[in-house]
Amino acid sequence: MTKTGHITHKCMKFLFLMASALFIFSLFSVLISLAPHSFDFSILPNSKLLAMAGNENLNETPRKCDSNKILKVFMYDLPSEFHFNLLGWKGKGKNIWPDIRSEVPEYPGGLNLQHSIEYWLTLDLLNSEFSSNMKGRSATRVRNSSEADVIFVPFFSSISYNRYTRKKSEEKISVNVLLQEKLVSFLLAQEEWKKSGGKDHVIMAHHPNSLLDARMKLWPAIFILSDFGRYPPTVGNIEKDVIAPYRHVIESYVDDSSDFESRPTLLYFQGAIYRKAGGVVRQELYYMLKDEKDVHFAFGSVQSGGIRNASQGMHSSKFCLNIAGDTPSSNRLFDAIASHCVPVIISDEIELPYEDVLDYSEFCIFVPTSDALKEKFLLNLIRKISKKEWTRMWRRLKEVEHFYEYQYPSKENDAVQMIWQAISRKVPSITRKINTARRYNARLMNNLPKGKGLSSVSVPRNLG
Ligand SMILES: *[C@@H]1O[C@H](CO)[C@@H](O)[C@H](O)[C@H]1NC(C)=O
Ligand SMILES: *[C@@H]1O[C@H](CO)[C@@H](O)[C@H](O)[C@H]1NC(C)=O
Repeated sequence: MTKTGHITHKCMKFLFLMASALFIFSLFSVLISLAPHSFDFSILPNSKLLAMAGNENLNETPRKCDSNKILKVFMYDLPSEFHFNLLGWKGKGKNIWPDIRSEVPEYPGGLNLQHSIEYWLTLDLLNSEFSSNMKGRSATRVRNSSEADVIFVPFFSSISYNRYTRKKSEEKISVNVLLQEKLVSFLLAQEEWKKSGGKDHVIMAHHPNSLLDARMKLWPAIFILSDFGRYPPTVGNIEKDVIAPYRHVIESYVDDSSDFESRPTLLYFQGAIYRKAGGVVRQELYYMLKDEKDVHFAFGSVQSGGIRNASQGMHSSKFCLNIAGDTPSSNRLFDAIASHCVPVIISDEIELPYEDVLDYSEFCIFVPTSDALKEKFLLNLIRKISKKEWTRMWRRLKEVEHFYEYQYPSKENDAVQMIWQAISRKVPSITRKINTARRYNARLMNNLPKGKGLSSVSVPRNLG
């Protein structure tokens, strides 16, 4: 009872605010349309850049990407316990960061690597200070946070979850939980955080179970995630956050000269079986497909069957199934891309990396779960795809595969650079949100009697 009443009240308040905002907005549009077009662009902070854009001769060899401005990133000097120590690196003396010109610590192998994005992004930022070559670079480290577009938080949350979740007997809480607590206190005390309320902070939480505690306090930030499966929509959403690919564990298919005929298996699936929601779909499909001659459908992780074996399996299949597991995303998709095996995606809630600039229908087949569960539907659909159509998708896979490649040093338009670019595309909306939040926080408002100003309203609410 009381709960419903409470929510209704909140909704009314929200609707009222929306209506007022709409009214003010339309009033503003009218005013602008009435005003003479004499707006002085020189007062914009980027006016110098705008002016320079018109002058082609400033530089004898204009960079191709002048319009794609390089993202300026300020990185907190978090103590090494938050990053490279978690990989087993022991700094010398007071060094927080390894000197990557002489030593590049390794990330633990195996399945850990799937979520290693934290490592590659951090290495790239460190490296940006040593290489003068800007070709292919989408982000660079700046030492003064007031010059930065975004503030980067170098916490290796995925390896922290994977390696430090279990408590040692003498510990009250695990290292993973402790680090998250420390991170929250650290961030909330920073001037940079206070200035933006965290909205311009970039925090990596690629493993679906990483950062589970801290994210409830750090939610205004941009999270880099694999999907939103375990996120309340107010904490993680596609407007605010960035979806990053898994690092594939299957070997890339170098010099792939295969074709439709030389890949004997029609459809390949190798994956874990889950008891939760996704597991039902996997099981149903298993019974539907297990007796088909040209289908490989097996349970068990790619690791357990041997990565070499799974690589061979995917390299010799035309289509590779990607079925939602206990989260909407999985590494299978990126293994399929690396194998040039056309992905067949059965995962209604999946979010895909860089989808705002990339059309996945050019190289993936999407099948709604409800259709996939209809008798014969899936195989009929796939058997109908012509050699010509398949070849078109296979070619496109070879063109896009480097968007999913994590490596050091990073190369133009690989996963690292694509993620920086995806963050860059968030910057205008972050700026807008920060400016909007400042409206009623202005100095002048402090002179108003309490309750008259709207400052209390400008605090975003977590409805989750
Ligand atoms: C950082 O940049 C701002 C604005 O450009 C400047 O006012 C400030 O002095 C700089 N701080 C340092 C430590 O260089
Ligand atoms: C390798 O894959 C095949 C099917 O592609 C399977 O029958 C075989 O058991 C696998 N080998 C190992 C060692 O798991």
